[in-house]
Amino acid sequence: EEGLDTKYIGNQIYCFHEVDSTNTVAKFLAEFGAEEGTVVISELQTKGRGRLGKKWESPVGGIWLTIILRPDISPSKASFLTLATGVAVAKTLRKMNIDARIKWPNDILINKKKVSGILTEANAKFSSVDYVVVGVGIDSNLDTNILSGDVRERMISLSQELGKHIEETDIISMFLNEFEEIYNLFKEEKFKTILYDWRRMSETIGSYVKINQPLGKVLKGYAVGINKNGALIIEKDNGDLKKIISGECIIRND
Ligand code: BTN
Repeated sequence: EEGLDTKYIGNQIYCFHEVDSTNTVAKFLAEFGAEEGTVVISELQTKGRGRLGKKWESPVGGIWLTIILRPDISPSKASFLTLATGVAVAKTLRKMNIDARIKWPNDILINKKKVSGILTEANAKFSSVDYVVVGVGIDSNLDTNILSGDVRERMISLSQELGKHIEETDIISMFLNEFEEIYNLFKEEKFKTILYDWRRMSETIGSYVKINQPLGKVLKGYAVGINKNGALIIEKDNGDLKKIISGECIIRND
């Protein structure tokens, strides 16, 4: 098995049995000067957070971790980190022979069911980024039947897919190895390389999608691409192209 083989990601790892949210703990540590690459892991979260203000169920049996980063970027580039992290998760799962796909912007799917999600939170200081925390949840050994009704049907875990117990420490080190590689590309501004991988593993591009945008706006069309800022490009039924920066994406047949 592969061990942790990174230069700086995971040099400091804080492990907890229980926290409210590893993102919250990571932000706290970042405020007190935690260095780039510090990782916070918890066995369970009592107030796990998802995107768009949703709660994220985080019982024992999943991987709940957050990485503290201090990239020298403008806050607008932070959302690209979510895509880069998605690529790292998908590559990790593909190393386990799982056909992982990425749904824009941040869901990792196996056979159209969600196995992992990412929550990136940036903290800006004088219009540049002070720190970013990237939170990753992976349903490793969860029995998804214990999740609440509305999400249960849409989720899958690695152990359910592979029919065996998963060694969480192996996945964590594999993921951190992949992450460091991609984060280095990000810092070298090799966005095209990352986007190439993202498109290659995307479930969204080429599908007809419905996007629920803030303020109740709904947009439908073919997802034709993604631009260098990580925005999704939609071709509407009338042929107009639209750029989507944030929202909830529903793929037809979801
Ligand atoms: C989503 O798909 O909506 C994002 C889910 C992100 C969950 C992870 S679990 C570790 C980290 N801590 C949190 O509270 N959320 C993220």
